[in-house]
Amino acid sequence: MSENINKKIPRHLAIILDGNGRWAKKRNLPRLMGHRAGLRKLEEMVRLVKREGIRYFSVYAFSTENWNRPSMEVQGLMSLFRYYIRRKVDEIKSEGARIRFCGRNDKLPEDLLQQMRWAEDYTKDQEILDFILCINYGGRAEILDAINKLRADNFTGEVTEQDLRKYFYLPDVPDPDLIIRTSGELRLSNFWLWECAYSEFYFTDIHWPDFDENELRKALDNYAGRDRRYGGLKNK
Ligand code: IPE
Ligand code: IPE
Ligand code: MG
Repeated sequence: MSENINKKIPRHLAIILDGNGRWAKKRNLPRLMGHRAGLRKLEEMVRLVKREGIRYFSVYAFSTENWNRPSMEVQGLMSLFRYYIRRKVDEIKSEGARIRFCGRNDKLPEDLLQQMRWAEDYTKDQEILDFILCINYGGRAEILDAINKLRADNFTGEVTEQDLRKYFYLPDVPDPDLIIRTSGELRLSNFWLWECAYSEFYFTDIHWPDFDENELRKALDNYAGRDRRYGGLKNK
């Protein structure tokens, strides 16, 4: 967008999609309707994020801890993921976006895993935006998985940050510049633990299904005014 020409845009924007349940409760709807509305909101967000010139867009959709929810909600979420991938992959591809999944494979239903692999393969040549869905993702799990893979490779010598990073789920994806969390909670809930070392944070009380272009604008404008020092001194 031309108005953004002189603005700092995050290269990697990450969003913790929180508040689907509260959104539904406010409307006397079942929680799953909130999740459905939340997934629908993602379609719009992919378009907006692309228009902003963001290169990597990751969303936290299901954590390694979310298995603790009642099985009806978990099953419902898995069905929604299946539906979303099947129905939206062409639209996402036509935006020039490549779909990637990030997280542990264990516990996910086999047919969903196959569908995820298919969607990744089907969109792999798209280069405008990497749209990363974190499903069964946990930051601690990612770090532990990396250490275990490194050990399985019989790695010897002192492990550097760069060495460990090579074993993360998506080693080529840069750290998130901006992490947004909707719905008022002021925590990470195990998202991008290693990668968030120098991320900027933005919290809003808006429930995820109500998050819109205007809210995104506010978050990006706020980010554009931040001074990222990385432990050094003020820029300019
Ligand atoms: C976020 O919405 C989606 C998932 C964690 C799957 P929630 O389901 O956490 O919504 P609240 O926090 O109960 O409102
Ligand atoms: C974080 O939301 C995980 C996702 C958005 C997928 P939760 O609703 O699970 O987090 P807590 O339980 O409030 O920390
Ligand atoms: Mg929540």
